[in-house]
Amino acid sequence: MNIQAEKLIELVKERHNPKKRRAKFICVASGKGGVGKTNFSVNFSYILSSIFGKRVLLLDGDVGLGNVHVLLGLSPDKNLKMLMKGAEVEDVIQHFEYLDVLLGFSGIDTFQELEDLDVVTVINKLEKISDDYDFIVLDASAGINENVLKFAVSSDTTYVITTPEPTAITDAYALIKSLYKLYKYDSIKLVANMCKNKNEGFSILERIRRSCENFFSFRPKIAGVLPDSNNVKISVRYREPVATAFPADPYTLAIKEIASLETGEIVKDESESFWRKLKNFFKVKG
Ligand SMILES: Nc1ncnc2c1ncn2[C@@H]1O[C@H](COP(=O)(O)OP(=O)(O)OP(=O)(O)O)[C@@H](O)[C@H]1O
Ligand SMILES: [Mg+2]
Repeated sequence: MNIQAEKLIELVKERHNPKKRRAKFICVASGKGGVGKTNFSVNFSYILSSIFGKRVLLLDGDVGLGNVHVLLGLSPDKNLKMLMKGAEVEDVIQHFEYLDVLLGFSGIDTFQELEDLDVVTVINKLEKISDDYDFIVLDASAGINENVLKFAVSSDTTYVITTPEPTAITDAYALIKSLYKLYKYDSIKLVANMCKNKNEGFSILERIRRSCENFFSFRPKIAGVLPDSNNVKISVRYREPVATAFPADPYTLAIKEIASLETGEIVKDESESFWRKLKNFFKVKG
């Protein structure tokens, strides 16, 4: 077994050590590109931090093609590249309201940089600061490559996003199959994005579930269904999360529901969220 694989298995063991107090690692992946991973990661993280009062670090794991900063209107001057060159996490974190963000970068300048892209090193650095957070959310790149698999299997939960497009469904299934067959990784939750209605979304997710059950006896969980919403496109153009630009949009509400399932908490009204914000401001663990 090579050293990378050994290190990875160590990480997975660490993850499952219940005595360790640490953030919950969440990976957002898809298989096919352009299905809405980054929008989901940004809005989900924002809602966890601002509405549920959780301490959240959002990490742009789309190495070389990062665009979390675009959706949050942030400048990418501090980024993952600095972390890979030896900087500490604390020195490269940026903030969007109560949300901490570790940005990715666009473009690879040298071949050396490609060699420096060691995901295990990044995960180890995140482990060191994981007591400072309730959640660390990782927006992964599209495709089934080594980096995505490493990020996913070292996460407590991986959200696999699909859309109603047959190609997106096939690729989501392929990703789940790879995670399960290669690593016996089963902490997977499914999300259907850009759906006409809930029925369409749930029937797609049931189809994926049935295929997994029939072909390798595994039944992934269902997280929820997100509607196709023009306001997502508008807010991307304005470089603002949908959750802040359109707090009552069905897309925002559907992500709130998924966040509520993740935390096991219900947000009853805005006054509650105000107190959560205040608590978050003073970094008191909820
Ligand atoms: N629910 C939605 N309704 C309408 N448009 C959406 C929705 N979700 C995402 N989009 C649009 O789809 C496009 C891709 O979204 P996003 O960048 O989040 O996908 P991605 O999976 O991160 O892509 P990549 O694989 O390139 O990283 C964006 O233009 C976004 O506005
Ligand atoms: Mg993306």
